[in-house]
Amino acid sequence: MTDLFKLIHLVAAIFWMGGMAFMLLALRPAAVMLYQAPERLMLMGAVWKRFFPVVLISIVALFTTGSHLYTNVYRAVKAATGQGGVPLGWNLMLVLGLLMMVIFAYIYWGAFTKFKRAMTELDWPSAGKEAMRLHKWIVVNFTLGWLAIAAVRLVP
Ligand code: HEM
Repeated sequence: MTDLFKLIHLVAAIFWMGGMAFMLLALRPAAVMLYQAPERLMLMGAVWKRFFPVVLISIVALFTTGSHLYTNVYRAVKAATGQGGVPLGWNLMLVLGLLMMVIFAYIYWGAFTKFKRAMTELDWPSAGKEAMRLHKWIVVNFTLGWLAIAAVRLVP
């Protein structure tokens, strides 16, 4: 069961991190090179509309499997030694992972909602502003994701 949980955790991380990598390193630069607003905003809006539900599913999977893996070991250590404890890297992953989830909630329910409203009103300057805000927070989450992965691998 633990192996299955680890696999699901990894798959969810690959979907989220891989999607951000593709968007930031390939799709967005290509869109900036080839299109102007409003076409560029329409393209990115259509991409986000499809990608963000994937992130929501990944988050549910990461949180449920991650907390299961974490508490399993915490309890086993407590049973064996009388005190709970997990590697520091795991605690860093927990904190950074939760932070990423809060930031995504802001991206999805904050910036993306405003972006969609501006697009419906054909208000391109406001839509462009929200798109830029959204992009910056995706860069932050991408960075935090790599820090979380580095922490769980490298910090004992
Ligand atoms: C609340 C959120 C999270 C919790 C509680 C959590 C917990 C954990 C734990 C306990 C492990 C170690 C499993 C083991 O080696 O037995 C782990 C591994 C891992 N986590 Fe998370 N995690 C969370 C969020 C995330 C996020 C957001 C990402 C993606 C950026 C992620 C990516 C990974 C990866 C790639 C591994 C495998 C590392 C390896 O192969 O050793 N996790 N996580």
